[in-house]
Amino acid sequence: MTSPAQGHEVALPPLPYHSLDDLEQLARARLDAGTWAYVSDVAEDGRTHAREKAVLEQIVLRQRGLGDGGTVDPSTVLFGHPLALPVLAAPTSGQPFVHADAERAMVRGCALAGTLAVVPMTGSTLIEDIGAQGVPWWLQLYLPSDTGTAGEIAGRAAAAGARALVVSIDVPVLARRRNVPAGYPPGWNERLISLRQGSPESLFILDNAPFTWKALAALRDRCTLPLLVKGVLDPDDVRRAIDHGADGVVLSTHGGRQLDCAPTAAEVLPSVVEAAEGRCRVLADGGVRRGSHVLRLMVRGADAVLIGRPALWGLAVDGAHGVRDAFRLLQRELITAMGLTGCWSTGAVHPDVEWHPPTPPAR
Ligand SMILES: Cc1cc2nc3c(=O)[nH]c(=O)nc-3n(C[C@H](O)[C@H](O)[C@H](O)COP(=O)(O)O)c2cc1C
Repeated sequence: MTSPAQGHEVALPPLPYHSLDDLEQLARARLDAGTWAYVSDVAEDGRTHAREKAVLEQIVLRQRGLGDGGTVDPSTVLFGHPLALPVLAAPTSGQPFVHADAERAMVRGCALAGTLAVVPMTGSTLIEDIGAQGVPWWLQLYLPSDTGTAGEIAGRAAAAGARALVVSIDVPVLARRRNVPAGYPPGWNERLISLRQGSPESLFILDNAPFTWKALAALRDRCTLPLLVKGVLDPDDVRRAIDHGADGVVLSTHGGRQLDCAPTAAEVLPSVVEAAEGRCRVLADGGVRRGSHVLRLMVRGADAVLIGRPALWGLAVDGAHGVRDAFRLLQRELITAMGLTGCWSTGAVHPDVEWHPPTPPAR
């Protein structure tokens, strides 16, 4: 069984590792201790992050036999944009600490894999320099207290070629992190360049702007791009996000770095999809380390998923090519999982693919 994606593989060198967990170890060996501590950090006791991985593992899929023939196609389309696989790079601050080419290498690596990166507002690269890479990308931002500023950033992003705007709402307060109690490594602000001014200045995240739905609606009015809200985990918030103009939501615990007793995306997906009633796209992230994790989240109702740390590990190991390889591995594993569960295309992924143990007959 082959797929267009596998055909493309032939020209590429074999992957230098067998799992994203292996890639994590390679990245760890490359990064200085402070950066590693930041990248791998979790909130408080790391319970949410650990549960995220455990819940994904508990989802069991039905293995199915022969289908109608053909090839497995893991591609999808999001907001009109074709993707070779339903996996994007999540926005992650700290990329300039991980690789000298930072966000530029991240967007290029994603494009090489046929997907796209969500560029974090707290990056080191100006919006216009990201746009100059000539590949598709989305921009993530935290809503600053001044909605005019958000509108201005949205306008700049659209002009520079961003395909969507992702507003993260899960950092109204910064959680106490295990490795970096102060929140960020030393030198953080100095090394980041504000997307707005092109000069070092305090991050919007630190202006303690409380997120309001009104601010989201105000941004919606000023923004021509598809608008997604990231960090949602509750059906009521999904309804509110849609009512205030969101075209999509990203279910996320921020990689287990915020509320350390939150439900995971996999757990809330069915209720969120029901609440969305098809009125917005539903994306999810957290703990995705295997192609089968991607499929498991899609079986629960996600249109696509994101990876945060694994993309950073790829960036650390080999810049844009390292990012590409992390996605290549996931794509290959996803094709395997889809082929063995009778899902010949992403459109064929369905909740019935999940296996549930038979209920014992009543006595
Ligand atoms: C080092 C690091 C930095 C992050 N920075 C941001 C950020 O600036 N904005 C944001 O919305 N999410 C941020 N996140 C959360 C990610 O977008 C994503 O939700 C999370 O990493 C997914 O979990 P995973 O790392 O297990 O794949 C960050 C996560 C990490 C690990």
